[in-house]
Amino acid sequence: AIDISSLRASTGYITLDRGFKNTGSTSSSITFLDGEKGILRYRGYSIEDLAENASFLEVSYLLIYGELPDKTALESYKKEITYHTLIHEDIKNIIDGFPSNSHPMGVLCSLVSSLTAFYPESLDPNRSANEVDQTVKRLIAKMPTMAAWAYKNKVGHRANYPDNSLDYCSNFLKMMFAVPSEEYEVDPVIANALDKLLILHADHEQNCSTATVRVVGSSHASLYASISAGISALWGPLHGGANQAVIEMLEAIQADGGDVQKYMAKAKDKDDPFRLMGFGHRVYKNFDPRAKIIKKAADEVLAKLGIDDPILEIAKGLEEVALNDEYFIERKLYPNVDFYSGIIYRAIGIPTSMFTVMFALGRLPGWIAQWKEMRLQNEPIGRPRQVYTGEVKREFKTIEER
Ligand code: ACO
Repeated sequence: AIDISSLRASTGYITLDRGFKNTGSTSSSITFLDGEKGILRYRGYSIEDLAENASFLEVSYLLIYGELPDKTALESYKKEITYHTLIHEDIKNIIDGFPSNSHPMGVLCSLVSSLTAFYPESLDPNRSANEVDQTVKRLIAKMPTMAAWAYKNKVGHRANYPDNSLDYCSNFLKMMFAVPSEEYEVDPVIANALDKLLILHADHEQNCSTATVRVVGSSHASLYASISAGISALWGPLHGGANQAVIEMLEAIQADGGDVQKYMAKAKDKDDPFRLMGFGHRVYKNFDPRAKIIKKAADEVLAKLGIDDPILEIAKGLEEVALNDEYFIERKLYPNVDFYSGIIYRAIGIPTSMFTVMFALGRLPGWIAQWKEMRLQNEPIGRPRQVYTGEVKREFKTIEER
């Protein structure tokens, strides 16, 4: 392992690598990714095995603590998470203050940041490991509650309190969809599909939002503030916001007569800012392994729920055309995880504006694990350099002289 803290800043040459395309910012033992071969592993376990056999809470434990829990550890972890699901009533007042057309991602990152006010001890960068661990569990427990309440505010419904008799995803679904006048039973097909999606999104090494969490945390800002910054970074359409953008794009293609070739041409036209959302990835130059799992899961969920979604036909058509297109082949642009996740979210009734929030719920344990690792490695403050291209020294002119 490299002792990062011993590296000194150089005053001489600077490496210019816009977008950090080839620059490593850290060493990490959390997630292994081989973009050429399409391999993704959390703590050494393949994403395929985890998606097939583990629950999201088990995977979150694996990422944060480094090992899969045994039965006793999992039980006590679940108990602690369940203990913290409730949020302070004053947070409800904050939510009520947002206009009902607020995007839930904006509400979520504000609420996570507001937790620093409810738990001010989290601001102390020298807290013990046990104290930090309580913040970790609070976050895992409270994010679904805050996310569901942000949604309820958007639709103008009364918030539902957590139901601690349910598993992680079922509880979230009930908080999202139960209304006082009707009985609500969580469909296990939907809860399982959601659990799998959260696992697939749980970590992805030094992507934009994770790098943000680490850089913000490197100034010794609190975990809540760092995660809130990660949520903001995830929101953009080139990152997590792509899942919402994919469905909006597919709907636009459908409304425009379903001509996928027309949109392929637009995506290739360098004078047109349009890009095929859900295609391409900074590190995968092969099929995104998560996209393969999701594609299969999307077929299964739609079949089980008996949903015949014309949007899926457009997605399949687009994929077929793109996979055989010179421009896309040359640039190694394959469908990414977000190309299919939106189709499942849509099938299980999650509204489009909540898609990126679902991604944030999934990515949370990865952000936390990376933040912890950054602090344990005692990493220096993240502070990129630049190559200055502005004016050389100029004489100041008073306002009268200008
Ligand atoms: N549609 C059309 N052309 C594309 C696309 C696309 N979706 N993606 C990349 N290209 C082209 C670029 O125009 C560029 O072409 P050029 O070499 O002729 O200039 C080439 O492919 C390389 O693209 P870059 O933008 O340089 O690649 P980068 O690694 O910077 O970007 C990104 C990766 C942001 C994911 C990009 O592929 C993209 O915008 N995709 C659409 C948005 C999306 O789906 N984002 C989700 C990513 S996954 C995630 O965050 C979970």
